[in-house]
Amino acid sequence: MRRLFIAGNWKMNLLREDAVALAEAVAAKADTVGMVDFAVCPPSVYLDAVGQALRGSKVGLGAQNMYHEAKGAFTGELSAAMLLDVGCQYVILGHSERRHILGETDLDVNRKVKAAIAAGLSPIVCVGETLAQREAEETLQLISSQFRGSLADLTEDDMQKVVIAYEPVWAIGTGRTASPEQAEQVHADLRQMLKDQYNTAVADTVRIQYGGSVNEGNAASLLSQPNIDGALVGGASLKADSFLAIAIKAISG
Ligand code: PGA
Repeated sequence: MRRLFIAGNWKMNLLREDAVALAEAVAAKADTVGMVDFAVCPPSVYLDAVGQALRGSKVGLGAQNMYHEAKGAFTGELSAAMLLDVGCQYVILGHSERRHILGETDLDVNRKVKAAIAAGLSPIVCVGETLAQREAEETLQLISSQFRGSLADLTEDDMQKVVIAYEPVWAIGTGRTASPEQAEQVHADLRQMLKDQYNTAVADTVRIQYGGSVNEGNAASLLSQPNIDGALVGGASLKADSFLAIAIKAISG
């Protein structure tokens, strides 16, 4: 049985004081929501401060990106060891904003995934089609090529440390969500890819989050789908109440 996993992607929002206050509020209330794993992913300069605010709570800490090299002359980049050093357990990799705005390729994402796992982090690996790809009925093809490219050459053990996030690009920050049926179809396809590439045990273990305008109003219908194991939440993760309400709706709905 896969435990629900709700992660907040704060993106490039909040300054220190508000980030720490939000982390404290999430930490205080998350402990009252059973059967759900949580993480928050603040801007990297606040990882340390947010990590301290989360200390002793059940809320995990995640970064929004990292570089695949271990150390050296890579100005502006952060290594997996640095993320671990400030208390991260997770790192979001291959988010569509990094793929589409910052030009990350599947090969870049794959290198980062391997480095993250080797260091002991759990990567949250994002995949998702654009509106044009969906309208051209290329969704399955695109998801399958991102799956094969971003998650290439992982052992069974490696793969079980990965969380996949299906985030249709057209649903991110737009207020438009995939219908529960549209989302479930892609999640079921991803589950089948895990089974084909590995085996049933791996397919049954790996958690697949949905992301794209998830909020308290749509959480129950999305997260009650059999292959949707949680959510990667942007906008609604910037307030403790709206973030936690997603988990509460998911377990009660
Ligand atoms: P959103 O962002 O919830 O604001 O659509 C989700 C994400 O980009 O992870």
